[in-house]
Amino acid sequence: MAKKNKYVVGLDVGTTKTCAIICELNDREQLEVVGMGTAESKGLRKGVVVNLDAAVSSIKKAVEDAEKGAGTAVESVFVGLSGVHVKSFNSRGAVAVNGHNREIAKEDIRRVIETAKAVSLPTDREIVHVLPQEFVVDGQDGIGDPLGLLGTRLEVNCHIITSSTTAAQNIVTAVNRSGIIVADTVLQQLAAAESTLTADDKELGVACVDIGGGTTDLAVYTQGAIRHTSILPLGGDQITNDIAVGLRTTIPEAEKIKRQYGCACSTLIEDDVAFEVPSVGGRQPKSISKKILCEIIQPRVEEIIILVKEDIKQAGLEKSIGGGVVLTGGTVLLAGLFDIAEQTFDLPVRQGMPAGIAKMGGALTTPAYSTAIGLVLYGYRTHTHRWAKAQANGSLFSKGMSWIRNRLS
Ligand SMILES: Nc1ncnc2c1ncn2[C@@H]1O[C@H](COP(=O)(O)OP(=O)(O)OP(=O)(O)O)[C@@H](O)[C@H]1O
Ligand SMILES: [Mg+2]
Repeated sequence: MAKKNKYVVGLDVGTTKTCAIICELNDREQLEVVGMGTAESKGLRKGVVVNLDAAVSSIKKAVEDAEKGAGTAVESVFVGLSGVHVKSFNSRGAVAVNGHNREIAKEDIRRVIETAKAVSLPTDREIVHVLPQEFVVDGQDGIGDPLGLLGTRLEVNCHIITSSTTAAQNIVTAVNRSGIIVADTVLQQLAAAESTLTADDKELGVACVDIGGGTTDLAVYTQGAIRHTSILPLGGDQITNDIAVGLRTTIPEAEKIKRQYGCACSTLIEDDVAFEVPSVGGRQPKSISKKILCEIIQPRVEEIIILVKEDIKQAGLEKSIGGGVVLTGGTVLLAGLFDIAEQTFDLPVRQGMPAGIAKMGGALTTPAYSTAIGLVLYGYRTHTHRWAKAQANGSLFSKGMSWIRNRLS
């Protein structure tokens, strides 16, 4: 059997589904899927664990299914982190270069990042990621990797992501209680971006928007580096809930109706067919047209997209995302959602399909698995130097950053 350390496992504990993907490093040093398992998520609300036992049983089921497929036991996982408790900000650090002949050494880089991290946080919060954006050497900015350069003053700009200590601990505890070690926690949108964006997207400027069941997670990249992240407490579950309330039916029925007849853009509905809605409380089923259903769905989809647009604007980045918007997550499978997004953003919008791993098969090639696949890719890149080298693109900036990100993200 293959050695255990050949496996990289991503565990996406989402609000609606929990998914485990086991990948193996093949002889050509490529990751390939050898097992996957999913389970309905129980015990999560808007991306955070609210019922430990229920979350543990979903994780166990997903992992056991993946283990059966892979024929190996999972020891450790890269698990996603989400929820509105996650906050981010940009920080700057500066140090005098200590190295021999003023040559910037690894130790100088480590120290300057420490200074960027040295912000006072409330005791109930912790830093999850420190992501260097660029270095500045003696006033010269835009430097990806300052190692070996000569200089007297080294500065760094970092994107720092923090979370509630207890919320982060709860997801780790849920995984541990399932008998698994957490190799690292990764902000979910960083994982989604990892599997759906190219280096060119990040260089041009792009917003990666993961619209899931309970949350909408945003990550904005410009000039090859992360600039902004945020999480909105809205997703496909609100759309389902609106349908259940509007049509006076159950949540499972509303979910079925959304997937089968739902459309987010009224101008796309040509044949206004009617469908039957089973009612609750012994009332007679009723006939509803697709247009009426759309009148329920469209305002909620517009609200989500507008909130994302406002968030990008507030971060001062609306003019910097020339590469457009990449939409991923299960909710982007809703018909008409892209039309609403294109009209609202007035930018190119495309679907974010996960890529970068061999043997994904049809089942995983859907936006609902971007985060799970991305967790494998992110975990592997940031914990294995060789992988970072292989993944680095042609741009010097990105190549330089891979060394740094490899150690710090
Ligand atoms: N074909 C479809 N049409 C419309 N909506 C869909 C379709 N397939 C899935 N969805 C919706 O996608 C949502 C789930 O997406 P996803 O699997 O990305 O969520 P999650 O990762 O579990 O949640 P989160 O990331 O918010 O914690 C649900 O609201 C579901 O109704
Ligand atoms: Mg998700």
